[in-house]
Amino acid sequence: MILPIVAYGDPVLRKKGAEITKDYPELKELIDNMWETMYESNGVGLAAPQIGKSINLFVIDATPMQDPNYGEFKKVFINVEIIEEFGEKWEYEEGCLSIPNVRDNVKRYSDLVIRYMDENFVEHEEEISGMPARVIQHEFDHIKGVLFVDHLSELKKRLIKSKLINISKGNVDVDYRMRFPSTR
Ligand code: NI
Repeated sequence: MILPIVAYGDPVLRKKGAEITKDYPELKELIDNMWETMYESNGVGLAAPQIGKSINLFVIDATPMQDPNYGEFKKVFINVEIIEEFGEKWEYEEGCLSIPNVRDNVKRYSDLVIRYMDENFVEHEEEISGMPARVIQHEFDHIKGVLFVDHLSELKKRLIKSKLINISKGNVDVDYRMRFPSTR
Protein backbone atom coordinates (compact mmCIF):
# COMPACT_ATOMS: atom_id res chain seq x y z
CA MET A 1 0.00 0.00 0.00
CA ILE A 2 1.30 3.44 -0.93
CA LEU A 3 1.40 5.74 2.07
CA PRO A 4 1.24 9.54 1.88
CA ILE A 5 4.60 11.19 2.49
CA VAL A 6 4.58 13.78 5.24
CA ALA A 7 5.55 17.25 3.98
CA TYR A 8 7.95 19.78 5.46
CA GLY A 9 6.34 21.64 8.35
CA ASP A 10 4.74 18.60 9.98
CA PRO A 11 5.98 18.30 13.59
CA VAL A 12 6.52 14.51 13.20
CA LEU A 13 9.57 15.32 11.04
CA ARG A 14 11.13 17.07 14.05
CA LYS A 15 10.59 14.25 16.58
CA LYS A 16 13.26 11.76 17.55
CA GLY A 17 12.31 8.25 16.36
CA ALA A 18 11.92 5.73 19.19
CA GLU A 19 13.58 2.32 19.15
CA ILE A 20 11.23 -0.58 18.48
CA THR A 21 11.07 -4.28 19.37
CA LYS A 22 10.38 -7.28 17.16
CA ASP A 23 6.79 -7.21 18.40
CA TYR A 24 6.10 -3.84 16.84
CA PRO A 25 2.61 -4.23 15.34
CA GLU A 26 2.52 -5.25 11.67
CA LEU A 27 6.19 -4.47 11.16
CA LYS A 28 6.54 -6.57 8.02
CA GLU A 29 3.58 -4.88 6.40
CA LEU A 30 4.93 -1.47 7.40
CA ILE A 31 8.30 -2.21 5.80
CA ASP A 32 6.64 -3.52 2.62
CA ASN A 33 4.53 -0.36 2.44
CA MET A 34 7.62 1.81 2.94
CA TRP A 35 9.38 0.08 0.01
CA GLU A 36 6.33 0.51 -2.19
CA THR A 37 5.97 4.18 -1.20
CA MET A 38 9.68 4.87 -1.77
CA TYR A 39 9.75 3.28 -5.23
CA GLU A 40 6.50 4.99 -6.27
CA SER A 41 8.05 8.40 -5.50
CA ASN A 42 11.42 7.49 -7.07
CA GLY A 43 13.26 7.92 -3.79
CA VAL A 44 16.47 6.14 -2.75
CA GLY A 45 15.61 6.20 0.95
CA LEU A 46 12.59 6.64 3.19
CA ALA A 47 12.52 7.11 6.97
CA ALA A 48 9.54 6.17 9.16
CA PRO A 49 8.90 9.78 10.34
CA GLN A 50 8.26 10.62 6.68
CA ILE A 51 5.20 8.40 6.72
CA GLY A 52 4.14 9.76 10.10
CA LYS A 53 5.68 7.13 12.41
CA SER A 54 8.12 8.42 14.96
CA ILE A 55 10.28 5.29 15.15
CA ASN A 56 13.91 4.39 14.43
CA LEU A 57 13.43 2.68 11.06
CA PHE A 58 14.44 3.51 7.50
CA VAL A 59 14.82 1.74 4.17
CA ILE A 60 17.42 2.46 1.51
CA ASP A 61 17.90 1.30 -2.05
CA ALA A 62 20.92 3.22 -3.33
CA THR A 63 21.38 0.79 -6.23
CA PRO A 64 20.09 3.30 -8.82
CA MET A 65 22.82 5.75 -7.78
CA GLN A 66 25.24 3.30 -9.35
CA ASP A 67 28.18 3.50 -7.01
CA PRO A 68 30.59 1.18 -8.81
CA ASN A 69 32.11 0.17 -5.47
CA TYR A 70 28.81 -1.22 -4.26
CA GLY A 71 26.46 -2.20 -7.05
CA GLU A 72 23.34 -3.29 -5.23
CA PHE A 73 22.67 -1.62 -1.88
CA LYS A 74 19.18 -2.38 -0.63
CA LYS A 75 18.64 -2.68 3.11
CA VAL A 76 16.25 -2.18 6.00
CA PHE A 77 17.71 -0.39 9.03
CA ILE A 78 16.11 -0.65 12.49
CA ASN A 79 17.29 0.85 15.82
CA VAL A 80 20.22 2.48 14.09
CA GLU A 81 23.21 3.91 15.90
CA ILE A 82 26.02 5.62 14.05
CA ILE A 83 29.11 4.62 16.00
CA GLU A 84 31.59 6.78 14.12
CA GLU A 85 31.76 9.13 11.15
CA PHE A 86 35.13 9.70 9.53
CA GLY A 87 37.02 10.30 6.30
CA GLU A 88 36.88 13.38 4.12
CA LYS A 89 33.74 15.45 3.92
CA TRP A 90 32.37 15.71 0.37
CA GLU A 91 29.62 17.72 -1.18
CA TYR A 92 26.68 16.38 -3.17
CA GLU A 93 23.32 17.75 -4.23
CA GLU A 94 20.61 16.21 -2.04
CA GLY A 95 16.86 16.28 -2.10
CA CYS A 96 14.18 14.84 0.17
CA LEU A 97 10.75 13.35 -0.57
CA SER A 98 9.31 15.51 2.25
CA ILE A 99 10.72 18.67 0.63
CA PRO A 100 9.81 18.36 -3.05
CA ASN A 101 11.55 20.52 -5.69
CA VAL A 102 14.26 21.72 -3.32
CA ARG A 103 17.80 20.47 -3.92
CA ASP A 104 21.09 21.71 -2.58
CA ASN A 105 24.64 20.69 -1.81
CA VAL A 106 25.31 19.11 1.56
CA LYS A 107 28.72 18.18 2.96
CA ARG A 108 28.90 14.83 4.71
CA TYR A 109 31.58 12.44 5.91
CA SER A 110 32.67 9.80 3.40
CA ASP A 111 32.73 6.86 5.84
CA LEU A 112 30.89 5.60 8.86
CA VAL A 113 30.50 2.70 11.22
CA ILE A 114 26.88 1.78 11.83
CA ARG A 115 25.11 -0.64 14.15
CA TYR A 116 21.54 -1.66 13.30
CA MET A 117 19.04 -4.49 13.19
CA ASP A 118 17.77 -5.83 9.89
CA GLU A 119 14.13 -6.74 9.21
CA ASN A 120 14.64 -10.06 11.03
CA PHE A 121 16.09 -8.27 14.08
CA VAL A 122 19.57 -9.63 13.43
CA GLU A 123 22.18 -7.14 14.63
CA HIS A 124 24.85 -5.89 12.22
CA GLU A 125 27.87 -3.66 12.66
CA GLU A 126 29.33 -2.48 9.35
CA GLU A 127 31.74 0.02 7.90
CA ILE A 128 30.17 1.78 4.91
CA SER A 129 31.52 4.42 2.56
CA GLY A 130 30.62 6.39 -0.54
CA MET A 131 27.07 7.05 -1.70
CA PRO A 132 25.41 4.49 0.62
CA ALA A 133 27.12 6.21 3.59
CA ARG A 134 25.69 9.53 2.44
CA VAL A 135 22.16 8.17 2.09
CA ILE A 136 22.42 6.56 5.54
CA GLN A 137 23.46 9.89 7.07
CA HIS A 138 20.51 11.63 5.38
CA GLU A 139 18.01 8.99 6.59
CA PHE A 140 19.50 8.80 10.08
CA ASP A 141 19.11 12.58 10.30
CA HIS A 142 15.35 11.99 9.85
CA ILE A 143 15.41 9.69 12.91
CA LYS A 144 17.00 12.56 14.87
CA GLY A 145 14.45 15.07 13.59
CA VAL A 146 16.99 16.74 11.29
CA LEU A 147 16.38 17.62 7.62
CA PHE A 148 18.98 18.21 4.90
CA VAL A 149 18.01 21.88 4.66
CA ASP A 150 19.19 22.32 8.27
CA HIS A 151 22.75 21.78 7.02
CA LEU A 152 22.63 24.71 4.58
CA SER A 153 24.24 28.09 5.17
CA GLU A 154 22.14 30.90 6.66
CA LEU A 155 22.17 32.60 3.25
CA LYS A 156 20.83 29.50 1.47
CA LYS A 157 18.24 28.99 4.19
CA ARG A 158 16.97 32.50 3.53
CA LEU A 159 16.87 31.82 -0.21
CA ILE A 160 14.66 28.73 0.13
CA LYS A 161 12.50 30.01 2.99
CA SER A 162 9.49 30.93 0.84
CA LYS A 163 9.66 27.56 -0.98
CA LEU A 164 9.56 25.76 2.38
CA ILE A 165 6.58 27.81 3.53
CA ASN A 166 4.79 26.98 0.29
CA ILE A 167 5.48 23.27 0.75
CA SER A 168 4.09 23.34 4.29
CA LYS A 169 0.93 24.96 2.89
CA GLY A 170 0.59 22.36 0.15
CA ASN A 171 1.43 24.85 -2.62
CA VAL A 172 3.78 22.55 -4.46
CA ASP A 173 3.69 20.58 -7.67
CA VAL A 174 4.38 16.96 -6.80
CA ASP A 175 3.52 13.72 -8.58
CA TYR A 176 3.33 11.42 -5.55
CA ARG A 177 0.91 11.27 -2.62
CA MET A 178 1.72 13.69 0.21
CA ARG A 179 0.16 14.71 3.50
CA PHE A 180 0.46 18.41 4.24
CA PRO A 181 0.37 19.92 7.73
CA SER A 182 -2.64 21.96 8.71
CA THR A 183 -2.47 25.46 7.28
CA ARG A 184 -4.39 26.95 10.18
NI1 NI B 1 14.85 12.94 3.34
